[in-house]
Amino acid sequence: MAETINDIVIAGAGQAGARAAEAMRARGFKGSITMIGEEPHLPYERPQLSKALLQSSDTPVAYIKPSRDWTQTLDVRIETGAAVIDCDADRRTVSTADGRSFAFDRLLLATGTRPRRLSVLEDAEIDVQYLRNVDDALGFRRHIEARSRIAIVGGGVIGLEAACAAAKGGCRVTVIESDERLLSRAFPALVSDLVATRHRNHGVTFVFGATVAGSAPGSVRLSNGATIAADLVLVGIGVAPSGDLAARLGLPCADGVAVDASGRTAVPDVFCAGDAALQWSRCHGRAIRVETWANAQNQAIAVAANMIGETREYSDPPWFWTDQYDLNIQVTGDMRDADHIARGDPTGGRFSIIALRGNELVGALSVNAAKDMAMLRRIIAAGATPLRADLESPRYDLRAALKPQ
Ligand code: APR
Repeated sequence: MAETINDIVIAGAGQAGARAAEAMRARGFKGSITMIGEEPHLPYERPQLSKALLQSSDTPVAYIKPSRDWTQTLDVRIETGAAVIDCDADRRTVSTADGRSFAFDRLLLATGTRPRRLSVLEDAEIDVQYLRNVDDALGFRRHIEARSRIAIVGGGVIGLEAACAAAKGGCRVTVIESDERLLSRAFPALVSDLVATRHRNHGVTFVFGATVAGSAPGSVRLSNGATIAADLVLVGIGVAPSGDLAARLGLPCADGVAVDASGRTAVPDVFCAGDAALQWSRCHGRAIRVETWANAQNQAIAVAANMIGETREYSDPPWFWTDQYDLNIQVTGDMRDADHIARGDPTGGRFSIIALRGNELVGALSVNAAKDMAMLRRIIAAGATPLRADLESPRYDLRAALKPQ
């Protein structure tokens, strides 16, 4: 471990920041760690915001362990409710909105993303809610309990998980999606249709090819001229990297903060991990930001090791899951611009789809087929190249792809 690393500052106290701090201690780092986050809460993971927290009114917020004893157990100083607004790379200090300054030898940007906002709903005459933090989730939960009429803008992961919870809670739900189908960013059309059918069976209505154009008390007006009765609009139209701090460091960040395989940015001793990091993805054939629970954890752990002087490259293929009623859907790698091979019976509700680009296995999606997915993740991570003809055979055992030829 390099002698000169005494003080580490982590900007952002979400999952990536917290897992990085834990990992530094677990790997024996003895210097000071200060984690600074703008939310008033201790670190927590975000999947619960659109899943468990919305299911029942008495589900408590699950904080990342060791939760309240970060200080005693891990000797990590956590500053909550403090936004890092500036950074001086030469003097190696960051400063917070409340005027304090923190010195670092190494800095981790773990500032994540912010929801994209819908400008026509600024100053709206109706309740508007985003779903990005604990307070958002608890606010949305109160609307579900009140059986509000809910218009959801965006048929992506957030909008649809919110729709599930609200429909199950007895709310009238309309989802307004600007594309012609759901979840088009990561899902093939077959799976979009399956998810839409499940939602319709639970009473959810969809409007495709439209967005919200305005609001009035008790309703929203759509771009196609229709009016939807609603007490609340929930907006889930994607996220953008929180790039203010990176910009202060002179780092371009419109698409994320570019990092190498060890999490280093272009500024010496400044690293980035989690949703904000823009890193090369072999499956995509380009640099991408990965907005997933798994990346926030595993990339952060790898980058933490590099920050304390170890050498570790991170290249896990992206992986995420979503629960839509009785459907557990998992995706790894990249499903787009690829040939798709189905395993199992797509009409039977349990199947996988494998994405091949040329002979390269670049992605996979599973519906209620977690075992297949576990194997496919390993195959893709290993860069194994099973034959297309084998993958097309229903009798092919995926485990064979990992055996030495
Ligand atoms: N009106 C209607 N729909 C829109 C508009 C708009 N103005 N703009 C975008 N959309 C649609 C997109 O077509 C897409 O289907 O909103 C959807 C947004 O989906 P995602 O990109 O998946 O974003 P979101 O659901 O907000 O999730 C953001 O949070 O938990 C993470 O992993 C999750 O990466 C995801 C992130």
